[in-house]
Amino acid sequence: MKVTVVGAGAVGASCAEYIAIKNFASEVVLVDIKENFAEGKAMDLMQTSSLNGFDTKIVGSTNDYSKTSGSDIAVITSGIPRKPGMTREELIGINAGIVKTVSENLIKYSPDVILIIVSNPMDTMTYLTHKVTGLPKNRIIGMGGALDSARFKYRLAEAMDCPISDVDGIVIGGHSDKGMLPLTRLATRNSVRASEFVSEERLNQVLEDTKVGGATLTGMLGTSAWYAPGAAVSALVHSISCDQNKMFPCSVMLDGEYGLTDLCIGVPVILGRNGVKKIVELDLNDLETQKLNESAEGVKKTNGLLV
Ligand code: LAC
Repeated sequence: MKVTVVGAGAVGASCAEYIAIKNFASEVVLVDIKENFAEGKAMDLMQTSSLNGFDTKIVGSTNDYSKTSGSDIAVITSGIPRKPGMTREELIGINAGIVKTVSENLIKYSPDVILIIVSNPMDTMTYLTHKVTGLPKNRIIGMGGALDSARFKYRLAEAMDCPISDVDGIVIGGHSDKGMLPLTRLATRNSVRASEFVSEERLNQVLEDTKVGGATLTGMLGTSAWYAPGAAVSALVHSISCDQNKMFPCSVMLDGEYGLTDLCIGVPVILGRNGVKKIVELDLNDLETQKLNESAEGVKKTNGLLV
């Protein structure tokens, strides 16, 4: 299994590290436009291999896509991250051009690749990748929901004062502060509804804290987060590589599912060796359906900014 990660910044390097540590890929190619940067990160990471016990070979490349040739999966993290106070949508101007060029380069050398999009605004960058590459729907996956759900579980565990392994929860909708839809109604602790453990008011606080999960960290760190984004990507890559059939909310092109068409937005999907194996349609109540529709309108508005 050969995996390319484009962008050797904090998110890209964390992706490469977590993928390597799980030891399922034969090779990870890290690509960056900054001279020698990806090579340096790759060498540093390789020097952890005897300590962390992995055999995945990590290779760096300064914008030479021939090194990515024959990749099974490629992750696009390139572009600029948010600064405190910025929304993900504000990054569209710079990141759209970068994501377009990167996806074209990847397809040239790996025509059968499965693409995972991380660059923001993620739902719109995923949509753009469809328009640029024309790849089948199962092979373009936007990473946002897996990260948002991990943040939701963190907040749920905090509210219920319990270990995260007791908690389950899912976030659908757009990967944006406003559009994200943490499904508090379906959140559980060992199959028991979260609402049995905490008040409605506290659950609403969990919901609000989850929605601004990325913005909170951007304010604290001065740039956007990387550990949880990297871990979320590595979980998706793992499920695809090892045909695990795990379910994650991902941004995928909808064609009537949830009553939505011609946009990419977060919904639960099953990920296996060919990418998206199935889109899972949840039985949403009226309020959740209304919120998802509002979120879809927001994503479509951002898509409309693409030139
Ligand atoms: C975040 C970025 C990766 O939410 O979108 O941290």
